Amino acid sequence: MKENKKNIVIIGFMGCGKTTLGKKLSVKLGYEFIDTDKLIEDCSGFTIPELFEQKGEPYFRRLELETVRKISKNQRCVISTGGGIIKNPLNMDLLSHNGIIVYLEATPEHIYRNVGNDKNRPLLQTDDKMETIRRLMEERKHLYEKYAHLTVDLTGGIVNVITDRIALALEEKMR
Ligand code: S3P
Repeated sequence: MKENKKNIVIIGFMGCGKTTLGKKLSVKLGYEFIDTDKLIEDCSGFTIPELFEQKGEPYFRRLELETVRKISKNQRCVISTGGGIIKNPLNMDLLSHNGIIVYLEATPEHIYRNVGNDKNRPLLQTDDKMETIRRLMEERKHLYEKYAHLTVDLTGGIVNVITDRIALALEEKMR
C-alpha cells in the first residue's frame, strides 16, 4: 500500500480533541472523516452512555472491534477513535496495517478542563474524576506511545496551528 493511500488514524485519551482535530485535518487533506464512536452509535441505535449502561463495556468493545474491521479497509480517510481503542491489539493491528497512527498527547489537567463536567464519558462518571483520569492515563500511556507513528503534544497549542503542523508532518511522511 502506497503511503499516500493510507488512512490517518487519530488516537489519544478521552476528551483530548480527536474529533475536532480529525475533522479539521480531513478538510485540510481532502480526506473523508470517520469517527468510530459516532459510527457505533449510528449502527447500534444506542448512545455510548446507553451502550455502557444497558449492555456493558465488553459489548461496546465488541462493537468497537467490528467497526474497526469495517473501516480499516478504507483508504484516504481520517479516522478519529475512542480513547480505549488501544486496549485491544487487534484494533491496532487492523488500523496500522493501512494507516498512519497519530497520537494526540495531553496532560490530565487538559483532559479535566475538556471533559470534567461531561456526562457522555461513562468511564469518567466517578466521585474523583481527576484521580480517574490520572489512573486511566497511567494505564494507557505506554499503549498510545507504542502504537504511534507520530506524536503531537497538545500543550498550549491552538487547534488550527496543531492541525497545520500535523498536516505538514504527514505530507513529509507520505512524500
Ligand atoms: C472511551 C472513550 C470514549 C468512548 C467510550 C470509551 C475510553 O471516546 O469510546 O466512552 O475507553 O477511553 P472518546 O475518546 O472520544 O471520549
